[in-house]
Amino acid sequence: MTQVIMQVGFYGHIRQYHNIQSEIDANIRRVLESGEYVQGPMLKQFEQELAAFHGMAHAAGTGNGTDAIWLALMAMGIGAGDEVITHPNTFFATAEAIWIAGATAVFVDCDPRTKCIDPQKIEAAITSKTKAIIPVHLYGQCADMPAIRKTADAHRLRVIEDNAQAIDAAGDGFRIGQLSDATSVSFIAQKNLGTFGDGGALLTNDANIDARVRKLRNHGSNQRNVHSFGFNSRLDDLHAGVLSAKLKHIHAWNDQRIKWAATYTEGLKGATHVALPHVRPGYRHVFHLYVIETKNTAHRDPLLDFLVKNGIDAKTHYSIPIHKQDGYPWGKGARTVGAMPNAERNAASCISLPMYPELTTAEVDYVVAKVLEWDKGAR
Ligand SMILES: Cc1ncc(COP(=O)(O)O)c(C=O)c1O
Repeated sequence: MTQVIMQVGFYGHIRQYHNIQSEIDANIRRVLESGEYVQGPMLKQFEQELAAFHGMAHAAGTGNGTDAIWLALMAMGIGAGDEVITHPNTFFATAEAIWIAGATAVFVDCDPRTKCIDPQKIEAAITSKTKAIIPVHLYGQCADMPAIRKTADAHRLRVIEDNAQAIDAAGDGFRIGQLSDATSVSFIAQKNLGTFGDGGALLTNDANIDARVRKLRNHGSNQRNVHSFGFNSRLDDLHAGVLSAKLKHIHAWNDQRIKWAATYTEGLKGATHVALPHVRPGYRHVFHLYVIETKNTAHRDPLLDFLVKNGIDAKTHYSIPIHKQDGYPWGKGARTVGAMPNAERNAASCISLPMYPELTTAEVDYVVAKVLEWDKGAR
């Protein structure tokens, strides 16, 4: 009997565009017809919508999510000689932003279940040079912000939430942005709220941070022909138009991701060789990624190969933790504090299954069936 191989892609961008094409096209046309493409009315409108969506005072569009982090650090006066604590099992950009700002990244391990920063590990990494903590809401789930804020307050540290992966997520009794000094967002195409290219934003309730970021992103200028030190890192109005159309749908799209995650979890709960994502009670995990882990790290690559051979575009996030990357400027003092067994285990065992609202029941069922087939011995 010939086996039917279904193709299940990793992203649903094109399906999503077709689903709301008239809304996106209308906004793009509005921008094109306005003749104002940089820091124009569409950007202003989207910034207001984004701030309101988060219940926050300010949102400033930036060129991408990485820039939003280092612009925030610079706006807070954090740079050379300062240390910033984060964790190494995140996308490289979290640490890269610390490096671009001129500060030094200090890595502590993650929580073994949520994969977000382990708040218990932060205290031991704090020195007289520490200025900030950057928790990442990894895979779509909020870090333990109340515990992080408590430690930050005890040592008068800033907190910047790297919220590239978790727009519209929430903790138990707290919202993203509420317990930090600033929150970065990424709008790169593959994010839950993604544009047709790159984009980012910085959210804050602090008017000074917002004003500094706005000036820094625009060649150090908030008045025509008057400049101080700055950069060019703006969110184009065309992207703002796309994002404004999509923002109206993000909550429902995330609800659908949560439903697919529940389907995966129900279907895979009997598997013996893989561990499933942990959702903290009371948290809204918006499943930017649905990441399973093989209990035996030696099984990861064979399972990944099996899925790919069967038409499933599974990936790893992230198979090399940042403290193992040669590309990081370790010579400049970046370091780990304590061992990183949880981050390293995650890197060696993680597999991200296709996850986007536009998946079909047949596709999700097929992915479940193939993981179970491998689990039961098809290796
Ligand atoms: C956790 C995390 N931080 C930062 C970034 C950087 O965002 P961008 O690609 O928009 O610069 C990303 C994604 O790309 C990310 O996943």
